[in-house]
Amino acid sequence: MSRLKLKALEQRLQALEAFETPKVSLEQYATSPHIAARLLHTAQACYGDVEGKVVADLGCGCGVLAAGASLLGAGACVGFDVDRDALRVARANVEELGNVDLVECDVRLLSAADDDVLNWRFDTVVMNPPFGTKRNRGLDMEFLRAGLRLATCAVYSLHKTSTRAHVLRKAADWGAEARVLAELRFDLPASYKFHKRQSVDVRVDFVRVWFPRKNK
Ligand SMILES: C[S@@+](CC[C@H](N)C(=O)[O-])C[C@H]1O[C@@H](n2cnc3c(N)ncnc32)[C@H](O)[C@@H]1O
Repeated sequence: MSRLKLKALEQRLQALEAFETPKVSLEQYATSPHIAARLLHTAQACYGDVEGKVVADLGCGCGVLAAGASLLGAGACVGFDVDRDALRVARANVEELGNVDLVECDVRLLSAADDDVLNWRFDTVVMNPPFGTKRNRGLDMEFLRAGLRLATCAVYSLHKTSTRAHVLRKAADWGAEARVLAELRFDLPASYKFHKRQSVDVRVDFVRVWFPRKNK
């Protein structure tokens, strides 16, 4: 299969269904096709971390990153999410791709499981985790920890720019390398009642995190 160009990938992702009724408690907001396409394209074009690789999408929601990885030539993809309603939408979105599986699972269990129990391995992990604010404090870091446990190449993740120092420090504490690849603007729709404006512009870091010892 020939690899999709960036624009074509973005267009394919635009056709996907989004959350029907986003759940505030699970921080459900979809990654825009624009950002998802760039995240995945960078992972492939700069690091060769998608084509032919086994890719996990943690907190996959409606599956935009898993679907995009598949469209970019990933060998196989698995999306994990705790929410069955989101997984139903994801199922429809990835149906025709043929190499995307979905697992209903709390990602916190993946970060907490013992090593001898969790022997699942992926080449690459992509994710747009909950930002871990308010009631979900720390959840972003639990996702990152889980991603690092699963990935043998690298984790590509999105984090609020305001938490950059914390993310980099945590990665260093775990013995991982972390690089901010880009600073993005995330236009969160006012899907939540407590947002008074139509949309909220949030500065977000696109980060690559990896364990040097796992990479040759
Ligand atoms: C910011 S949304 C991103 C959705 C999707 N990855 C995307 O890029 O459009 C975060 C996702 O994490 C899921 N989530 C929240 N808490 C979770 C948990 N503890 N375990 C697994 N998934 C969780 C939500 O249901 C939601 O789909």
